[in-house]
Amino acid sequence: MNIRPRRLRGSQILRKMVRETRVDKSSLIYPIFVKEGENIKEEIPTMPGQYRYSLDTFPKALEELLDAGVDKVMFFGIPDDKDEVGSQAYAQDGIVQRALERARAEIGSDMYLITDVCMCEYTSHGHCGVLRGHDVENDGTLKLLAKTALSHVQAGADMVAPSDMMDGRVRAIRTLLDETGHKETPIMSYAVKYASAFYGPFRDAAGSAPSFGDRKSYQMDFHNRREAIKEAFLDVEEGADIIMVKPAMSYLDIVREVKERVQLPVAAYSVSGEYAMVKAAARLGYIEEDRIICEMAAGAYRAGTDIYLTYFAKEIARFIEEGR
Ligand code: PBG
Ligand code: ZN
Repeated sequence: MNIRPRRLRGSQILRKMVRETRVDKSSLIYPIFVKEGENIKEEIPTMPGQYRYSLDTFPKALEELLDAGVDKVMFFGIPDDKDEVGSQAYAQDGIVQRALERARAEIGSDMYLITDVCMCEYTSHGHCGVLRGHDVENDGTLKLLAKTALSHVQAGADMVAPSDMMDGRVRAIRTLLDETGHKETPIMSYAVKYASAFYGPFRDAAGSAPSFGDRKSYQMDFHNRREAIKEAFLDVEEGADIIMVKPAMSYLDIVREVKERVQLPVAAYSVSGEYAMVKAAARLGYIEEDRIICEMAAGAYRAGTDIYLTYFAKEIARFIEEGR
């Protein structure tokens, strides 16, 4: 036998030398929830270990992330007031806008600030756009999304990430940002976002579950693969700078395909349901949490992701530091 694959598996030092995939802290993004109020750090029941922070408590969480070597966050806002048209999404004194100002004032430019741009946390009906009857109206929503993105950038966002899945929203946002002097602000598009039960815990966390119906008329059908490429190409044409696939774990074939066909950085979002499953099974003693986190992350990078959004960002940074 002259070919023995086991020769390269004999020791950890050797295995690490010949690794094909390396996870890097600089490619991690941590999603964080901010809400109105004071002195609040409340645990999200369906996402143990994740919290909703008020404006006075989240800067400390950012400091902890920086200490761990994670220097990118994505903000989700939980407003006190919701209405039909999601006014608080684009209000100058909205929760995310104030969080951005506060983060800039207290943390400076060490932390890269990304915002999720969507309406569902801000609308009384919980849909990702404005309604006409029971339909989510595409074109009427575009103006509001662009306005929201601009208000985030004006408040200090480094990058915006539209997650609503309306047609044409990347172009609408790009156009308004360009017209207002923000030509250099990148857009990370949730280009390939499936209608998924994996978002369940997030909707608990953000109070953004739709009050009627579901999101299947705008988010993608999870049986589809070619449509993912169509969505990705459309957003490339509209001016997206990064293409995201979401969720991650059950969609790594899509990550691979998008990576091979699109000449832009690819991001994968390991969503709330993925996090919740790991936490729940670990609590029951059914799995080894740390090892599972490492395997899930490595799987996403092996599939081709360049960027990984995960609630486990801090843990992954620690595992990298420990050389696991
Ligand atoms: C808002 C949005 C959602 C997520 C990210 N942005 C929820 C949804 O589409 O219902 C999901 C994130 C997660 O589950 O971790 N549209
Ligand atoms: Zn939404």
